[in-house]
Amino acid sequence: MQRNDLNMMTTEVSVSVLSANPLEFGQEIKRIEKSGAEMIHYDVMDGIFVNNITFGMPLLKSIKGKTKCILDVHLMIQEPLKYIDDFADAGADIITFHIESGSDVAETIAAIRRNGVKAAVSIKPNTPAEAVFPYINDVDMVLVMTVEPGFGGQKFMDMSEKISAIRRYAEENRKTSAPLDIQVDGGIDNTTAPVVKKAGANILVSGSYLFRAENMGLAIEYIKGMFAFDLNSFLDSDLNCFVRIFITFLFVFDFN
Ligand code: DX5
Ligand code: ZN
Repeated sequence: MQRNDLNMMTTEVSVSVLSANPLEFGQEIKRIEKSGAEMIHYDVMDGIFVNNITFGMPLLKSIKGKTKCILDVHLMIQEPLKYIDDFADAGADIITFHIESGSDVAETIAAIRRNGVKAAVSIKPNTPAEAVFPYINDVDMVLVMTVEPGFGGQKFMDMSEKISAIRRYAEENRKTSAPLDIQVDGGIDNTTAPVVKKAGANILVSGSYLFRAENMGLAIEYIKGMFAFDLNSFLDSDLNCFVRIFITFLFVFDFN
């Protein structure tokens, strides 16, 4: 896939259930699906890799089969390799783990693949793009964290250069025909989504912004950019040309 084709990659949204109401979990899953999200982002934290503890396998198992959304599991745990089979059995469609964890990266990718699940690696804000380069042909997706992992509702950190470097490297070095998915996670809302998309991300994780919104469906459309006015495309467009001719016409004939 060439650089220009990036414009043809559609943006997908993965809703982080970390911000869902735990007492209404079943309803929240239905709400996400109805709102038009492609994926459900399931954050697993062990209190060791990050200072927080969240969900395990049983809850994931209870979601499986109840939704058409892709189950996108983000492991923020110290020993991901130990739990790959369990999360695959529980219904994960994509498993992402951190390069900074204690498990061997190549072995963990192989374990995910053995289970017939899509494999992804993630990097924290201080880890350089180059850390994922050796695995660019082995993974389906790279997750670039735009906050320090551990909690929802944090302030977005601009990782545009890192995202672009990974997109460029994948375009030049990936041997498979399938384009690399680049996911971002942390502080994504209607103002930060255009920044990460421009840099080359095509799957956006969002939690607090979407659950805070009065209308989740509309908020998803906002971050996908359906209603955004894209100034750059307008400046290149035929419509812009037409508007300029029209204004010149008004001046020339001085209708006032
Ligand atoms: C943070 C988690 C995120 C989190 C994003 O470590 O990995 O998935 O839920 O939440 P927001 O969108 O609120 O930053
Ligand atoms: Zn996450």
